[in-house]
Formats: sequence, structure tokens, C-alpha cells
Amino acid sequence: MSRARAFSFQCPTRRAHVRSDEVIRNTEVMDEPTKWHAETLAIVAGRAPQPGGPFNVPPTFASTYRDGGAIGYGRWGNPTWSAFEEALGELEGGHCVSFASGLAAVSAMLTSLPLATTVVYPSNGYNGTRGLLERLVKEGRLHTRAVDVVDTSEVLGALDGADVLWLESPTNPLLGVADLPTILRAARDAGVIAVVDNTFATPMLQQPLALGATAVVHSATKYIGGHSDLLMGAVVVSDAGLRDELVEWRTTHGAIPGVMEAYLALRGLRTLPVRFARQQRTAAELAERLDDHRHVVRVRYPGLVTDPGFERASTQLGGFGAMLSFEVNDAHHADRVVELLRLIVGGTSLGGVESTIDRRGRWKGEELVPEGLLRLSVGLEHPADLWADLDDALNGAFTHSS
Ligand SMILES: Cc1ncc(COP(=O)(O)O)c(C=O)c1O
Repeated sequence: MSRARAFSFQCPTRRAHVRSDEVIRNTEVMDEPTKWHAETLAIVAGRAPQPGGPFNVPPTFASTYRDGGAIGYGRWGNPTWSAFEEALGELEGGHCVSFASGLAAVSAMLTSLPLATTVVYPSNGYNGTRGLLERLVKEGRLHTRAVDVVDTSEVLGALDGADVLWLESPTNPLLGVADLPTILRAARDAGVIAVVDNTFATPMLQQPLALGATAVVHSATKYIGGHSDLLMGAVVVSDAGLRDELVEWRTTHGAIPGVMEAYLALRGLRTLPVRFARQQRTAAELAERLDDHRHVVRVRYPGLVTDPGFERASTQLGGFGAMLSFEVNDAHHADRVVELLRLIVGGTSLGGVESTIDRRGRWKGEELVPEGLLRLSVGLEHPADLWADLDDALNGAFTHSS
């Protein structure tokens, strides 16, 4: 019988990094050479700077700005984007550029690569990124090599002659944990650009730029927004030149975020540390209970001591995350579980305040995922209510259907 390790939330402290002069800054607080914890940074970064003004940068609804100012046109910049970008940039330790969605951020990185670039990517990572890579290969623009990012020697073996390494850890939806410190060190030594999709871990668990990644990508739609009411994405980089190139890409491709989305995403980010801490505590409890359930074949959660990712997650992450996957014997019973749940919502997104569940094997591109696997995004409901819902649905699925 496996046991989830009691969650210990270690907040990353702020690291020194080059900071942009062009973003809105709360000069009173953010220019001090202090070492704020993530909870504090999430509250103060991107705060409106004007004495006498509102605490929060309001949504600026503008397609055009009057001549004589810094921005000019609505596709070139927006103070509300900048406030969000400052806050996420501070949490990740780099310069942030926001995009219309997570996939727009992924696109900015992948479609701006020179022709014939070789990209190493996770064979079992997010299917949208894999779909885009497939398309770029079909168009003759990129070469790719698929690897299991959990298998460090396979990843290192694929770096020879590669240009870009795309990583995701924990992976979506199998929750495999990659040895990021070793892999990122090797990539740097080999001169390979490393990009980490940090959507599942969030900066609360890991900050890949500090480990040598060139860029971090986020679907801010998920934990950062946190309320299932917006789509937005971001890329965070250490290098100010690369930041400028990404802004240029965004301007010329028009993949800009909406103003209201940016406002809501920053509002969501303010509570990310506290939401995430609670959500992963509940996830650990549910993982442990599911692991003991007679109808559950396997639980994948890096906080379970029997999980293959446990050792790495314990030493390399600031916590075990709030996503877990569990398997029942087949697709039919998994679908029945989803139908019978009353509190947990069937739906394909994740990271919100509400718990959501998805049988991933039903989607195109998820052929490697076991048919009976259910991915559970644990929300902020009371753990006892969530457990009662899961237990009832599991028992009901196996009682009423065969
Ligand atoms: C790990 C990961 N990256 C990127 C994306 C794409 O984000 P969006 O849906 O905001 O475009 C998703 C969406 O599910 C995701 O799970």
C-alpha cells in the first residue's frame, strides 16, 4: 500500500535577474533588493504605481493611443498586459511576454525557429504541442525526435545534433517527472536551446530558467488564471533580446491577449500560491485514497511513495502538484465514472478552482494513454466531499454496468 508524502510547500524565493525597464513597476516595493517569497511577489508584482491611483492596474480598453505616448497602437502594447507580465516574470525569474492562449505561446516559440531545426520533444506530452509539431514537420519546416522525457538517457542520447529540446514535467496526462536539473545541464553543455512547458508545475514547484532553460512556456488558462474563465498564454525568458524578439513576433502575428483576460489572469495569479498549496494537499489525500480503492487499477501521482516519479519530485520540486491520473479497467467503466460524478465536472481543461475530470484516451493524439485513464484536476472543494463523490461514482460504475 502506498502513501502520499505529507505535502510540504516550499516557496521559491526571488532570484536576481535582469529586469525590464519597460514594464509597469510598483517602484515603492519592487525596486528594493529584497528577497520576497512567492506569496508576497504574487501580491505586489505588477501593482499599479501611481500614488492616489487604484491598487490594481485597471483594464485599458484601447485600440489606439493618442500620439506622444509610449505605446501607439493596441497590438503593440497594453498596460494591463504589462502588469500581468511583470508579475509572472517575477515569479519565474525572467522577462514575460503574454499571448492569446497557451498554444499561441507554444506557436511563438516553435514557428519562429529557423527552417530545418531539429526539435526533441516529449512523446507523451500535451497533445496540442505534438499536433503543432506534426504539422510543422509535414510542412517541411522542422525535424523532430520523440523521447520519453522520464528516461534521462534517452533524452540525452537524442541531443546530439539537435537544436531545441522541448520539455514538459510533470507530463500531461501521465504525470511523469523528468530529471530537469540533469537534462537542462546537458542541453546547455550541448548548445541545445531548452524550453520547458511549466503549466502543470507552475512557478510554485519549479523555476526552469534558474536551471538553465532558455524559455518557460505557460498555458495561463490553467492554474495561473485559475477560474476556468479565460484563455491566455505566456513565454518567460532570461534574455532581454529574446524577449524583444517575442514581442516582435506577437506584434507581427497578432497573437495578442485580450485586455480583460490579462486583467483576470493577474487577478488569478495573486492567489496562485494559496490556491495551489491547498489544491495539492487535497490531491495528495485523494491520490492516497484512490490508491486503496478496489476498482482503481493504478494511480499516477508523484507524491505517492510508490510512484516512479516520487524520488525526483521529492528532491527537485517544491511540492507534488494538484493533477493526478487514475486508471480503471477499461474505457467503458471510466466513462461511467465520469457520468456518475455529481460534484466533479467532466471537462477537458484543468487548473481551476473546481475539480474537473477527463478520460484522455478519448482524444485524438492520445493513443499512448491507457483507455481507462482518468485525469483529475483537483480543485478547492472540501476533500471529504470530493472523496465521497469519487467513491460513490467508482462503486456505482462497477455495480450498475458490466
Ligand atoms: C501543458 C499544456 N500546455 C499548453 C496548453 C495549451 O494551452 P491553451 O489551451 O491555453 O492554448 C495546454 C492546454 O491544455 C496544456 O495542458
